Amino acid sequence: MGAGGAGYGATMQLPPPRGTLSHRVRDALAGSSTRPLASRPSPVADDHHDAALALWMLYELHYRGFDGVDDRMEWDATLLGLRRHLEDDLEQDLRTRFAKSGTSAESVEEIFRICDEHEGAALSPYLHRHATREQFLELLRARSVYHLKESDPVSWAIPRLGTAAKAALVELQYDEYGGGDPNRLHAHLFARGMAACGLDPTYGAYVAQAPTEVLEQNNVMSLFGLHRRLRGAALGHLAAFEVTSSLPSRRIAQGLDRLDLADAMQHYYREHVEADAVHEQLAVRTICGALVAESPELLDDVVLGAFACLDQEERIARHFLDRWEAAA
Ligand SMILES: [Fe+2]
Ligand SMILES: [Fe+2]
Repeated sequence: MGAGGAGYGATMQLPPPRGTLSHRVRDALAGSSTRPLASRPSPVADDHHDAALALWMLYELHYRGFDGVDDRMEWDATLLGLRRHLEDDLEQDLRTRFAKSGTSAESVEEIFRICDEHEGAALSPYLHRHATREQFLELLRARSVYHLKESDPVSWAIPRLGTAAKAALVELQYDEYGGGDPNRLHAHLFARGMAACGLDPTYGAYVAQAPTEVLEQNNVMSLFGLHRRLRGAALGHLAAFEVTSSLPSRRIAQGLDRLDLADAMQHYYREHVEADAVHEQLAVRTICGALVAESPELLDDVVLGAFACLDQEERIARHFLDRWEAAA
């Protein structure tokens, strides 16, 4: 299939609302008017899914937008004000969990140790040995929320970096974006894998059924990417992501093979076995190393980002394993 395959580059429909706030955001975007938000939105503290979906919609205005939504809504002051409010809650939650975890480091190399020592639920051993075809497809639908825009959130950081960190991040991103070949772009490889599994590869197709944890994981990456203040966290997140990718990618490819599921999807994961063994070194030592050499005060944020990556992934793993083990 060519790089311009059906639907891969298309914009998406607004997802159905999941509560008062996402309803009002959706109405505001659909009507290109923030009147539905004129009165202060009701408190959302208790409804994490509603808040996560509302924030996800607001972030998506900065990526590809939505069908029928005026592109100028991206910089609408009322929407930005609401985004700020939701981001403050998200960041506060993250920092609270980070503080409780006691995670700290004296140097960026300790990211390897932090990833190694991080305990908790993990999906890849289950996917390797036990997952059914339906469970695999359920997970791939959830993963598509990120993988169909793989690497985009950290690209926001590029213009915010000094020479050495910028050169190294672009080297890594060049791989993620296919090294000049659209057919090797990782997001595109994932889309082809989805199609081969009989899933809809259209960007955003499965957002409506994504669990809260998946929306939050995506929101955290956008939060880090879109705020220059949080560039250290964006790069720390990238580093932990790469460090924890190679071995799980191998297990997932083997799990797909066990079920005889889609070669194209196995190919996506196999690509990450080799690539991320290289990327982890580049991300930790060169990218985060250069950032902290230039701005030592950002080390704590780099560690926060690494923690956030592990923490979000663990919450997603717990969500799925709880469901699957209960059904077993
Ligand atoms: Fe990738
Ligand atoms: Fe990578």
